[in-house]
Amino acid sequence: MNDQTTPRSTDALRAAARKHLLFYGRDFADVIITRAAGAYMYDSTGRAILDFSSGQMCATIGHNHPAIRTALEKAARDVIHLDSTKLAPAVIELAEELCALLPPSLQKALFLSTGSESNEAAIRLAKLHTGGFEIAALSGSWHGMTAGSQASTYASGRRGYGPSLPGTFALPPPNAFRCPIRHCQDRCTGTCLDVGFELFDGWSVGAGAAVIVEPIQSANGMIVPPEGYLKRLKRFCADRGMLLIFDEAQTGLGRTGSMFAFESEDVVPDVITLSKTLGAGVPLSATITSDTIDADARTKSFSFYTSHVSDPMTAEVGLAVVRLITAERLADRARDLGQHLMAGLRELQQRFEVIGDIRGRGLLVGVELVEDRHSRRPAHDLMQRVTRRCLDMGLNINKAGGPNAVWRIAPPLTIEPSELDAGIGLLDEALRGCGAR
Ligand SMILES: Cc1ncc(COP(=O)(O)O)c(C=O)c1O
Repeated sequence: MNDQTTPRSTDALRAAARKHLLFYGRDFADVIITRAAGAYMYDSTGRAILDFSSGQMCATIGHNHPAIRTALEKAARDVIHLDSTKLAPAVIELAEELCALLPPSLQKALFLSTGSESNEAAIRLAKLHTGGFEIAALSGSWHGMTAGSQASTYASGRRGYGPSLPGTFALPPPNAFRCPIRHCQDRCTGTCLDVGFELFDGWSVGAGAAVIVEPIQSANGMIVPPEGYLKRLKRFCADRGMLLIFDEAQTGLGRTGSMFAFESEDVVPDVITLSKTLGAGVPLSATITSDTIDADARTKSFSFYTSHVSDPMTAEVGLAVVRLITAERLADRARDLGQHLMAGLRELQQRFEVIGDIRGRGLLVGVELVEDRHSRRPAHDLMQRVTRRCLDMGLNINKAGGPNAVWRIAPPLTIEPSELDAGIGLLDEALRGCGAR
């Protein structure tokens, strides 16, 4: 056991991790991170690693931003936690300031801890409000690991746990690079949406409650729907008396170049959920809906208590994050830096045949690796080797895309253009070093 006075060696920490940490999906990287600041993490040897994934796509304002530190210190001085009937000013102000960024039909917020919980609450609200129980989501989506949100998660983790929730249905996603209905090539016409709802209508017992979607699917490989898709989706929902839930865990609060991804689509959901980017590294999420749905849910005794509902400490951080993103116009910055990133990656694509596709919006970008552009077979082995080499060279990038080989590039919105260039340079070097053509 550690005597808690001498710092432990990296090897000793790794050995303790192997002994005591339960496997939860992916092996841990060899590095032990002892500090993080801005766009960088620093390992136990003091080596800097540029973080192109903002931690778990959360640290949008950079790691350990002083505003977060100040908010945490304030909460530690004032109030960290209360019972679920008590409110602290930060919670009320967060609701007020967040709702001020949203349309008039999204003005009632519930604050929870994780993205899974926020979707769980959204799904429960939809069921209670509509009286239905059927939930459709896009295949390849990720909405969380708790029972309700996991039932609508199709990216992974479905096998081996027994029955999922009855009434959940997967629609084909608008993936232009790999059309799920083998209809389009490189330009999605949205036919998948018609086909999906034809299938849904045949399958449904007439108890539709909601469709839940990420406006840009992230775990599925940065799938950006074609213009008009989300608007049509809203109409499909309304025609069936179903609510539309946008899960903006990753896309919300500036990452895609607008405050919320739905803004660029001229469509407003019935419920929006926010998480990762709202706490920017602390566990805070929100489920936001209309006055009408809130009033109806109240008459039907809606409940969603958790130990940390409306917690002051995380709200204090959320408030600081919302204020900083607004004051520093980080959504505009993400839009501009996104163009810079895209241009750098497109230049790489001209030199590497294995880069089959680049897509995304703002600072949420997917880079899909293929064995060759004709077969489009996913280049998993190459992706694994290059990802590993990047980390060795000081760049953290993560894989997404389910069965396909897609890097998700989602650095903090506060990253400097020179840091973006440095990351692209490292990626270039790693691709060359691994023999990519
Ligand atoms: C779009 C989306 N929704 C929900 C979640 C679940 O959030 P959490 O892991 O905080 O429960 C995730 C997590 O990756 C996500 O990407």
